[in-house]
Formats: sequence, structure tokens, C-alpha cells
Amino acid sequence: MKPPKKLTSRKQSLTHPLPARLAVTGLAIVMALSLGAMKCLADTDTQAGAMLAKMTLDEKIGQMVQVDMAALKNKADVTKYFLGSVLSGGNSDPTDNRPETWLRCVNEFQAQALQTRLKIPLLYGIDAVHGHNNIIGAVIFPHHIGLGATDNPKLIEAAEHVTALEVAGTGIRWAFAPCLAVSQDIRWGRSYESFGQSTELVSKLGYAGVRGFQGESLDSNSVLACAKHFAGDGGTENGKDQGDTVCDETTFRKLYLPPYEAAIKAGVGSIMISFSSWNGKKMHGNQYLLTDALKNELGFKGFLVSDWAAIDQLSPDYKQDIETSINAGLDMIMIPNGPGTKNNYVEFINNLKELVAAGKVSPARIDDAVRRILRVKYQMGLFENAYTDPALTAAIGSSEHRQVARECVRQSLVLLKNSNHALPLARNLKHLAVVGRAADDIGIQCGGWTIDWQGQPGKVTTGGTTLLAAIKQTVSPETEVTFSADGSNLKNADAVVLVVGELPYAEFKGDRQDLHLTSDDIELIKKAKSSSAPVITLLYTGRPLILDSALEQSDAFLVAWLPGTEGAGLTDVLFGDYKPTGKLPRLWPRNNEQFSAVHLTGNPLFPIGYGLSYDAKLARKN
Ligand code: GLC
Repeated sequence: MKPPKKLTSRKQSLTHPLPARLAVTGLAIVMALSLGAMKCLADTDTQAGAMLAKMTLDEKIGQMVQVDMAALKNKADVTKYFLGSVLSGGNSDPTDNRPETWLRCVNEFQAQALQTRLKIPLLYGIDAVHGHNNIIGAVIFPHHIGLGATDNPKLIEAAEHVTALEVAGTGIRWAFAPCLAVSQDIRWGRSYESFGQSTELVSKLGYAGVRGFQGESLDSNSVLACAKHFAGDGGTENGKDQGDTVCDETTFRKLYLPPYEAAIKAGVGSIMISFSSWNGKKMHGNQYLLTDALKNELGFKGFLVSDWAAIDQLSPDYKQDIETSINAGLDMIMIPNGPGTKNNYVEFINNLKELVAAGKVSPARIDDAVRRILRVKYQMGLFENAYTDPALTAAIGSSEHRQVARECVRQSLVLLKNSNHALPLARNLKHLAVVGRAADDIGIQCGGWTIDWQGQPGKVTTGGTTLLAAIKQTVSPETEVTFSADGSNLKNADAVVLVVGELPYAEFKGDRQDLHLTSDDIELIKKAKSSSAPVITLLYTGRPLILDSALEQSDAFLVAWLPGTEGAGLTDVLFGDYKPTGKLPRLWPRNNEQFSAVHLTGNPLFPIGYGLSYDAKLARKN
């Protein structure tokens, strides 16, 4: 099945349409042409240079500061300190998570920025890492590991285009995505944010993701993408989050730099630096990699943003951290701390001013950073129009958007086993038993980074379809569908659909040394098997797990990863409307010694690229 047609041509503007009286006259054509011309780098470079020449040091340093919304108790500080950016970290939300509330809140920050002397517009950033995942009613896509299993760049581009439309629907023009981690060790809590263990796959899908957000070039229809986290975040020893990637330069360059070369080729406008280290040196202080390699050798023309208070980890001295990170090549610093707390944004501004006065950070370095930031803002048309089109708000969660996510779910599923043609299921079974808490839990189905940073079980977002709901919508009226979390509904079942796997987590809270399926899950599968009905097991997981007896106890075994809100994509495969095409984006370990792809010993249970299908004509059993 071909991925859905492009939702909208890139011509759909994210900002207010041209006033009607202009849109029909020759003048509009001239304006459109000059607007297009103005966006080429040379002109936006000229515009940025002209603006830079007008700016005071305070105004320049303000552009280099990104403050978390929760730290900005007084929105007027955006004006007072000439702030260039505001973000919402995983748990920084307005009074509620409705799209209208977000739109109003973001626009209030923008209005503050436009009250400054030079009216330099704000860039608002958020972690839209699998759809616009902070927002109630938004479409939540499969996490990257599921998208990696699709191996379908066109589909990933369509998915990020939908995400861009929904992000813009809340007034936001910057998404901290796509994550380009080439994850080597599944003990890492961010394994699911990576497309997989293959540099080539991550590069291919990362390129598509940037194009999905930004379009063919950065312009007024773009949401700024942010390739992250540069670099080697997925290669740390034992998969420790924010740990140390230990390897020689040849290996580092071969494994971890190509995705950024691809993102730069796609025109990515921002890159976020990794908390992790390379051979013991923190990435946020590595001038060789940030400036010599990324900016000069690879020719990155956008700007580098730090991670969440990441520069504070460089040393015990905040002022020294600022000097080290800015001189290493950081252009914008993400600061989650407000007045009255340590290492806050006012402290940052005062320290950086002192460092410039003392000659420890050169005016040329400040100008380079600010020019990069301004150039992106000019390319995005923010100076012409700092606000997004409110018509986009109503499209959040639309059926058209959900269709794209449903297609992603279908293509992400990897079939590891299908004995006795257990799949596809007939629609007219007499009794279909659905078992396992996660089968009716949208929060578990979505995973981490959903409404809250860590995600959580339960009804965390509206508008989603659980697997159980999708099954009830798919089977024929004469089929009895029963549900239990504990397998108490197995009596006289003609087939059992069972869901096991991980509960939501994010970042270092997901680091695990033991990746066995839980004993409760193993026992639940054994209990289902004792019913003598065919057992179809679905695994919700951010990474491969050690399956032990789970595989042999299941008649069919389908890896669903973390599918998101569109549960109908699961039933499309379970009932044969879509043949499984997903392929493992990373090896599947046989035991606890096979966590790392780099230090692999022996044969894995399943190799990267493994995935079964079935003959669709069998789907029509009924
Ligand atoms: C987090 C993550 C990064 C995210 C940022 C803002 O710690 O490392 O991926 O974009 O902070 O939430």
C-alpha cells in the first residue's frame, strides 16, 4: 500500500495568508517572487548582517538565550532581556493542554518579543518527537524505533509534515526533532527515540524527517527541525544515558556523523548538542567537533542549541561553563532556571557580558552566533509574520492526520512468528478474548513523551483508539469480544489477542540493565496458551526485550513497538487488511549478553532486517 498522498502541498502556509486584496493582484505575484528571493541564504545573510549592525551587546546576548516557559514567571522578561527563544520542556505546560490554550500562551510570549526596540521575533521550541505529543487531541505517532521498522522515508516525511502542521496549530514554529541517535545498546532509556542501530537507516530517515518539518527549504511554511543530539548519544558505554562514547575517531565519524551530514543536506536549521561525552570529553565543550567538524568541515550554516542545562555539567563554575561552551561553538543556550535559582538566565546574561568585556569570549564569536540565529529567523519569514495561521488549530487531530499515523502503525509492525497461520484473524470468530492491561490503555500504547515527559498509563490523551476499541470496531456483529487484564476471560475463546511489554518512561529513567520480559507477562502468556486457543501476542516496547518462553508459548508474535493513538493500524494487520511489512531496525538479543550491537557476541535471536509476512488471501477466512 503506497503511503498516503501528500496531505497538503507545501504551498499551504503556516502563517496568516496574504490579505485577500493582495492575493489577486499582480502585486501579490511580485511580492511572492520577492519573498521567495528574499529567502535565499545570500539575501537572508544580508538581512541578518544589517540587523546585527544595529544591535547592542545586550540585544545580541538576549538572542542567544532560550528559557523554559516554567522559569519565566514574568513574561515581560522576554522583552526586558531581549530573549531569542522560549521552550516548553517535557513537563512545562500552560494552565491546560488544550490547543487553544497553547496557542494563546505562545502568542503572548511572541507579543512580548515584538515589543523590543528591534522587534526581533521569538522562536518557540518544543519536543514534538512523535507527533505534537504535549497536546490533548493531537495525533500521536509511533516512536522512532517503530518508524525505523517501516524503512519508508516518504512515510516519515509525511508523518513529520503532519506533526509540523499540528505544532504550528499551537503557534509554535520549532520542533526538537528528529532525533538522529544511532543507538547501539538497548539498555539505553532513549533507544525508542532512535530509528535503529544502522547509520545508513538513521541517515536516510533523518533526512526525510527534516524535509517533513521544513519542506524543501527553510521558509515561511516551515517548522524548524532540530537534529539531535550531536553526536554519539546512542553509543555510550552500557547504554548509559548522558554517558561516554568510547571509540577512535574513525569509528566515531563512521557511525555517528553521517546522519548529521544527511540532515545538513536536507537543510536542517538547528542542531542540539548531546549531554554525552566522546572519550571522556563532554560534547558541549568540544570545539573540534562543534566548530571544526560540524560548522567548518560539514558546512552547517544554522545554529547550535544546548540541551537542558547541559552546560552546567561541564564544571563546578557556571561562568567557566559559559565561556567553554560558547567558545566551543554553542550559539544558543537552553536555560530551565529562573530568578532565585542557581545558574539562571539573568546570571547567564550577566556572566556572558563580563566574559566579553574581559576578552574571554570574542565579539566575533557573539556575532557569529547571533548571525546564525537571525538568518534562520529571516529564512522562516518570522520577521514578515511572527504568528501562525489560527486555521491550523482546528486541524489538530483531524481524520486526515490520523490516517497518516495509522499507515505508520501498519508499516511499523514486525511479525516474528506466525505458526499454523494464526494470523490473519477471521472477523467472525465466535469468541475473541483480548487479554492484558495495555490492550485497553492509550497511555501505555503511546509510551514516554506523551502529555508528560515520562508519559503514564491511563487516558493521557483524548482522541486515541486503543487496541481493544479497534478490535471491537473491526469484528463482525456476531463476534463476542471479551477483555481482561489477567486472563480471566479465556474460557471458550476461539482466539486470544494478548498484549505485554513496557510501561512508559523517558530518557535516563528508562535505562535498564535487565531487559527480560516481566515474569507477570511470561505467566500471562502461559495462562493464555493453556486455553488451547491460538495465542497472538503483541509486544508494546521501546526496544527489543529478552523473550524467554514468550515466543514458543505464542502462536503468533507481533512487535508493535510504541504505536501511539492509532490502534486501528494494529487491527489492519491482525485481520489481514494489511500484510505485515515491518523489518527489525536493530538486532534482537537472545540473552543478557547481547545488548550491544558494537560488542555483540554470538548470534542474536533475530538479525537486523528480520520480519515475516503472511499471504493476504488467507485474510478472507470468513
Ligand atoms: C531533554 C532532552 C532533549 C529535549 C530537551 C528539552 O533533556 O535531552 O531531547 O529536547 O531536554 O526538553
